[in-house]
Amino acid sequence: MNHKSIAIDGPAGAGKSTLARKLAEKLGFLYVDTGAIYRTVAVKVLWEKADPADPAQVIPLLEGLEIHIGYDSDGVQRMYLEGEDVSAAIRKHKVSGVASQVSAIPEVRAFLLDFQRKLARESNVVMDGRDIGTVVLPQADVKIFLTAAPEARAKRRLLELEQRGEAADFDAILRDIKDRDWQDEHRPIAPLKQAADAVLLDTTHLDLGQSMNQLLFLVKEKIK
Ligand code: DC
Repeated sequence: MNHKSIAIDGPAGAGKSTLARKLAEKLGFLYVDTGAIYRTVAVKVLWEKADPADPAQVIPLLEGLEIHIGYDSDGVQRMYLEGEDVSAAIRKHKVSGVASQVSAIPEVRAFLLDFQRKLARESNVVMDGRDIGTVVLPQADVKIFLTAAPEARAKRRLLELEQRGEAADFDAILRDIKDRDWQDEHRPIAPLKQAADAVLLDTTHLDLGQSMNQLLFLVKEKIK
């Protein structure tokens, strides 16, 4: 049976994961946060104290790497590395930068490509990431490029951290977001970019509810 797939790409902090998860819930599709998979590889690199900028240290770690995705009863994705639940660890600030670094290594991307495609072969999916519409699922039924101005993304991130009771500084967050955008957009392999047939959704001036309505409208137009 042919499964449906919805690809949602865009920079960090555009609201991809929140919107993609809600969309998946509404449609009864599986939600796949591919950034979480790259983050899990980053945790392995940190565990092994390897240098994420050095492919020669990272590539050998891929052999026999045991990564699994699980889902809570409410559809929340959980990541397991060698049997250990690393769902909280992958959200640490340090992991973001390392994930961005290891994601620039072609062998890491090739390794995760099959993993991601397999998920889309087995289920209807809403998959979010950077290269889903361009590389992972070029035949996706719907492709959305979700973005927002860096300042708007930094403001949302600040609020999120404050709500979690974590200390945060707007300027540092903004700098971080811009650095990561640059890294993700300029890597030679599978850089972050809008697929030619993706629909652009800019949420700079939209709140979550408005963004969700727009997203649903776009998806329903394509998947009847
Ligand atoms: O979406 P995120 O911040 O959790 O992603 C972490 C890093 O993983 C991000 O800097 C870029 C990389 N990534 C990628 O290269 N391709 C994807 N499909 C998803 C994430």
